[in-house]
Amino acid sequence: PDESIPPTSMDLRNTDTGEPLDLSNAQKEGRNTEGVRKFFQTGINPYIEDASCLKPGESFYLTSCSGCHGEIGEGKIGPGLNDDYWTYPKNTTDQGLFETIFGGARAQMGPHYDDLTLDQMLQVMAWVRHIYKDDVKAATWLTADQRRKFTPFKRGETFPDDPPGLCKAP
Ligand code: HEM
Ligand code: CA
Repeated sequence: PDESIPPTSMDLRNTDTGEPLDLSNAQKEGRNTEGVRKFFQTGINPYIEDASCLKPGESFYLTSCSGCHGEIGEGKIGPGLNDDYWTYPKNTTDQGLFETIFGGARAQMGPHYDDLTLDQMLQVMAWVRHIYKDDVKAATWLTADQRRKFTPFKRGETFPDDPPGLCKAP
């Protein structure tokens, strides 16, 4: 695999300290996928509402996040991620959410570069956006078109086995 980290003009910073993130901590796998390249170029996560990324995103969310944030992001020892309140308003942007996952925040919210590749982080981010349950108007991380089509998440959704899109089944 291509182990280089794609160029970005984003100024990526730790959510708690504001220190620059060191992307060289990223795992060697999953660094230079089409999704990572697009995200680093545009600051927009191309996996959001990509049907092929939701199931793998859920699966990585369930191994890395749900123990603290709850199975559907309802909150547990970490804050709820499925609602319209954010401790750090920057988490309403794809860049901010990536910075929080990659670099961590306070307390038990540690960095996630040891358990997720850059590509997997984007998949988890797509799942976190997908489980949103509040008013779609506040979902400023969605494009206008995505907002029009979005219905607040309800448990028990099923997914087709191999939908078209940028992600591969894990
Ligand atoms: C905070 C996401 C894993 C504990 C946060 C925030 C986000 C987030 C977005 C900030 C929320 C806000 O601004 O309101 C994630 C994701 C995870 C993950 C996507 C998996 C990749 C974990 C784990 C733990 C944890 C495993 C526990 C060991 C916490 C805590 C906070 C937090 C305690 C509050 C930190 C603070 O306010 O500075 N998480 N998290 N998280 N998370 Fe996580
Ligand atoms: Ca919240």
